[in-house]
Amino acid sequence: METKKSSRKGDIIFSKYSPGDGIRKAVNFSREDILFEVKDSKLKGRGGAGFPVSTKWMLAAAAISDDKYVICNADEGEPGTFKDRVLLYEYPELVFEGMVIAGYTIGSEKGIVYLRGEYEHALKPLQDYLNVMREDHLLGKNILGIKNFNFDIEIFLGSSAYVCGEETALIESLEGHRGEARNRPPYPVNTGFRGKPTSVNNVETLCCIPHIVLKGGKWFAKFGTKTSTGTKLFSVSGDCDRPDVYELPWGITINDILEISGARNTKAVQVGGASGSCIPKSQFDRKLAYEDLSTGGSIIVFNESRNMLKVLKNFMEFFVEESCGQCTPCRIGNSKLLEGVNMIEKGEYTFTYLNKLKELGKTMQVASKCGLGQSSPNSFISILENFKDEIFIHNGGKNA
Ligand SMILES: Cc1cc2nc3c(=O)[nH]c(=O)nc-3n(C[C@H](O)[C@H](O)[C@H](O)COP(=O)(O)O)c2cc1C
Ligand code: SF4
Repeated sequence: METKKSSRKGDIIFSKYSPGDGIRKAVNFSREDILFEVKDSKLKGRGGAGFPVSTKWMLAAAAISDDKYVICNADEGEPGTFKDRVLLYEYPELVFEGMVIAGYTIGSEKGIVYLRGEYEHALKPLQDYLNVMREDHLLGKNILGIKNFNFDIEIFLGSSAYVCGEETALIESLEGHRGEARNRPPYPVNTGFRGKPTSVNNVETLCCIPHIVLKGGKWFAKFGTKTSTGTKLFSVSGDCDRPDVYELPWGITINDILEISGARNTKAVQVGGASGSCIPKSQFDRKLAYEDLSTGGSIIVFNESRNMLKVLKNFMEFFVEESCGQCTPCRIGNSKLLEGVNMIEKGEYTFTYLNKLKELGKTMQVASKCGLGQSSPNSFISILENFKDEIFIHNGGKNA
């Protein structure tokens, strides 16, 4: 079975792989063996939150139910992120085999890909690839001729709401409801899709699995740092000569990424998309790793010509638009932060009021119901703190 060959290079995901090998190897293992390998790999979820995959899978495997679900989160709505799109187009075998192995491990027969609405163009090639896998007995009933090893995958097209990338809002949307986050607990591993145990994993997380099964968890853990094992896909965009998706070991610095992507005269780097942090030049030696700058992979480069207040305004408008409105800290808070940015733009602000807005941002981080409102103040706080000279020199205000 052939897939579109890519010239990309990397130690794990972009390394050589023969489609089907991951599943063929997995069936020689018990589900406990696979859980041990995944545990040894110390793989953490690549969707942003960094939750250990082995813990999630152990809980889902231990849940007692006739029906369980494996969901691949392909909603990829974080501004500046496009690595999952590359994986879906160029490495579908890794995505789908990762799901089959997840099903085998947790005892599920049903996989669902939640595909971002804007990626509708990927639907047909992905469905075609699923058919090829069915013909090769890598999907369907009695996979590889093994009795009762059943697993199939369907693809659900989302409707382009950022909040639907949050796993419980995603499940609500899959069930045909409005995409709004649920209270947690209960967690999806116990009460997920249709109230059944559900493991939700990011596209990139799933792509690591066939390689871990083939080469072992300890091999995987040799890459990266002690607490951030393996490699990471970084979507690099903005002011650089070579914007692209790069597979690099965790622990590299922002300076390394800027060099690889051909960035010059860089003033700021937004790490982790609009919901991440804006890092100034003085901190470009910081490491991209869970223990320092954690990220789902979005890296946006800004050179000296950029106006950081405009950058911030763009991010805050995005959050006002995308807040689902269910809880007050996020619904009102994001509008208030945007109002503050507009006040700075007009020079009609006081430092006392801006400090109050920063405090509001901190309250949103702890009081919002889901990760959207918990992380949306990050850029407001980091841009105001790290770029105050630029912002306040150009936008005079009352020093009260
Ligand atoms: C507002 C919001 C948007 C999110 N969008 C995505 C997304 O597009 N893709 C994704 O994998 N995870 C996204 N997440 C994280 C998911 O809730 C969840 O943690 C992830 O899918 C779990 O997979 P992982 O453990 O493999 O990372 C989002 C979270 C929030 C709060
Ligand atoms: S934090 Fe925002 S997106 Fe999340 S539930 Fe509250 S209003 Fe909705």
